[in-house]
Amino acid sequence: MTSVADLTARFGIPGRIALRELADGFAAIEVTNDRGTASVALQGGQVLTWAPRGAEPVIWLSRAATFVPGKSIRGGVPVCWPWFGPHATLTDYPAHGFARTLPWEPIAASEMPDGRTHLALRLIQNEKTRSQWPHAAQLDMEIRVGETLQIDLCTRNTGAEPIVIGEALHTYFSISDIRRISMQGLDKVVYIDKVAGGSRQQQQGAVVFAGETDRIYIDTEADCVIDDPGLGRRIRIAKRGSRSTVVWNPWHDKAARMGDLGEDGYLGMVCVESANAADNLVSIAPQQVHRLTVEYSVE
Ligand code: BG6
Repeated sequence: MTSVADLTARFGIPGRIALRELADGFAAIEVTNDRGTASVALQGGQVLTWAPRGAEPVIWLSRAATFVPGKSIRGGVPVCWPWFGPHATLTDYPAHGFARTLPWEPIAASEMPDGRTHLALRLIQNEKTRSQWPHAAQLDMEIRVGETLQIDLCTRNTGAEPIVIGEALHTYFSISDIRRISMQGLDKVVYIDKVAGGSRQQQQGAVVFAGETDRIYIDTEADCVIDDPGLGRRIRIAKRGSRSTVVWNPWHDKAARMGDLGEDGYLGMVCVESANAADNLVSIAPQQVHRLTVEYSVE
C-alpha cells in the first residue's frame, strides 16, 4: 500500500486535504473547507463522515466501528457493487459485492472554484474479484464536499459484451431517534419487504419505524426527505440514475447480534440507500458508462 506520506505529497493541500492513518494500514482522506468537512477511507472508497460547516454530523458512523482490512466499516457510505445483497447464486460470495471491502486508489483531489472540494477514486480490482465477477468494468467515484455532499458512482463497461450490475450507496444517516423520525417520498411505491419474507407491499404515506425494517422500494426515482423533529432538521436525499431506494434499520435484537452497531446504536441511525436492486438491475452496453448520483443536503 502507498504510504500516508506519499499520498500526502501527491494529494495533500495544507489546511484543506490531509491524509491520516485511522488504524494500521488503514488510511483516510480528510477534507475541510469553508462549506463542510468530510472523511473518506481508502478501503471501500467509503465516506465515513460529512457535515456542513457548523452543523451536526449528517452521516452516522458507529461508535463500535472497527477498522479491519477486508471488513466493511459500520456506518458512513459503503459502496455495494457489482451486486446488491446476497450473491444471486453463491452463498460464500460477499454480501453487497466486493467494492466496499477492497482498497480504492485516489486519482485526484482539488479545490473547486465554488469552494467545495472534489475527490476522485477508482476501485482496484484483482484476480479474486475477476474470478467472482468475470466482466470487464471500471468503477470510479467522485465526491464533492461542501454544504451538500455529492457522490457519483460511475461504472464503465470496458469490454465487448453487455454487463448487468446491482449497486447501492448504502448511506447511514444520523438521526435523533429512529422511533420519532418519518420519511417522505415513497408514498404509493411498491416495496419488497425482506422482514416479511420478501412479500410485496405498497407504501401508504410517510415511512415510520416501529421495528426491524428492511425494504427495497422499486421503480422509484423520487427524492426522499428524513424529517427529524428531535434534531430540528430535514435531510434531503436527491438522486439520479437510481431506480430503487432501500430503507433499513436492524432494530434492537439484530443490532445486538451484529456487534459493531454499538449499544443502542440502532436508535441513532437509518439507512436510506440509493440503489439499483431486485427488479432494477442495470444493463450497460459495451464501452458505455452508467452513473448513479446522490446529493444530500440539510433543510
Ligand atoms: C441492507 C440490506 O441494505 O444492508 C439488509 O437490505 C442488510 O438485509 C443490511 O442486513 C446490512 O448489511 P451488512 O452486510 O452491511 O451487514
